[in-house]
Amino acid sequence: MPTTKSTVALLGATGSIGTQTLDVLRLEPEAFELVALSGGEQLSELAAIAREFHVARIGVISDAHRDALADLVGPGVEIVVSDDGLTSLSQGADIVVNALLGFAGLPVTLAALQAGKRLALANKESLIAAAPLVAKVRSTPGASLLPIDSEHCAIHQCLASSPGQPGFPDVRRLLLTASGGPFRGWTHEQLRGVTKDEALRHPTWSMGAKITIDSSTLMNKGLEVLEASALFGIEVDRVDVVVHPQSIVHSMVEYVDGSVLAQLSRPDMRLPIAYCLGLPERFDHGWGSIDFTQSLELTFEAPDRDAFPALTLAYEAARLGGAAPAWLSAANEVAVGAFLDDQIRWSEIVGVVARVMDRYVADPLDSLDALIENDAIARRHAHGIVRT
Ligand SMILES: NC(=O)c1ccc[n+]([C@@H]2O[C@H](COP(=O)([O-])OP(=O)(O)OC[C@H]3O[C@@H](n4cnc5c(N)ncnc54)[C@H](OP(=O)(O)O)[C@@H]3O)[C@@H](O)[C@H]2O)c1
Repeated sequence: MPTTKSTVALLGATGSIGTQTLDVLRLEPEAFELVALSGGEQLSELAAIAREFHVARIGVISDAHRDALADLVGPGVEIVVSDDGLTSLSQGADIVVNALLGFAGLPVTLAALQAGKRLALANKESLIAAAPLVAKVRSTPGASLLPIDSEHCAIHQCLASSPGQPGFPDVRRLLLTASGGPFRGWTHEQLRGVTKDEALRHPTWSMGAKITIDSSTLMNKGLEVLEASALFGIEVDRVDVVVHPQSIVHSMVEYVDGSVLAQLSRPDMRLPIAYCLGLPERFDHGWGSIDFTQSLELTFEAPDRDAFPALTLAYEAARLGGAAPAWLSAANEVAVGAFLDDQIRWSEIVGVVARVMDRYVADPLDSLDALIENDAIARRHAHGIVRT
């Protein structure tokens, strides 16, 4: 058990990662104190969390949300609004958990690292879009970036045997595992008829809607390739994807001598969340513990890049560098939103992203303003393509 209590700011407290982070905090009240939180539309849930954890600082997304929340929580709670408010929430905490969805998580990622905090990052979109900018602020004294994404958390654990080696010269490749999603093995013909219900039913993980759809197109794995490259400073061509339908091996590192290290557990996001909060401590809850007395099937196969072209698009964006990953992620956010709003079919999601990427104009991405502009341009193209 840690000897001192760490204060935690949880951004995106009402979501899938947010509520699982709260589970960890409930189980470890001696180790952590929740001091700030934020949410989006689910204001009564946000108010209930604030009451349970006695949190006096909350971030919301608009003035109207602030007024509505103020009625629910009563006096004595400070409510801040939007980007500036959210970034200020990270200031008063030792650990910032970024469980926000999409590009909206960017200000928190940058602010937490700039303030020298430990950033437990679930919000992969901010790192993918802003990799060159994040790289600069990661060297702030005291700052650390720990990945909540189960695959990257697995790799973080496997790389512990190569400390202090920039670029990891003794690593041949990172092997990201993918469940393959609900449509593994489906033909093009079958994929054309996919419904929203089918796409929202992940075989092994229970997650928010956007990442569940991303998992069904394999765009999530493509984004994770970009995330891994940015997080560990490893060229994208040393990051491979292998389909492992059981989701027990969460990812692997292959060293140059042929040795492969893997991290295994039953799928349970509380394990990587607690790892990021507690490092170097581990908590004795046995999340995802495996019973090796029972038969355990672990199978691996290559991803079907023909049926799931998102993976190839992600590698191409990584090789282009600059603002290309930001375009890919922004276009995908718009396309997934359009699918969830019944504007396009599932089989059109990745096509929208591909058409946006065809219009990409190289930009080295040297400032936050440039990133925000690139994000807006990619979204404009994507909305235009969705409407046609
Ligand atoms: N879920 C998983 O198991 C999992 C695993 C690995 C990585 N991740 C990553 O973790 C991140 C969060 O995923 P999730 O599945 O937890 O998503 P989620 O369930 O949709 O939750 C998103 C959270 O962000 C809030 N939010 C949404 N849009 C916002 C905006 N524009 N401004 C401020 N707050 C906003 C939501 O508030 P309301 O709900 O109140 O509207 C909610 O609290 C994503 O980047 C995802 O890729 C998730």
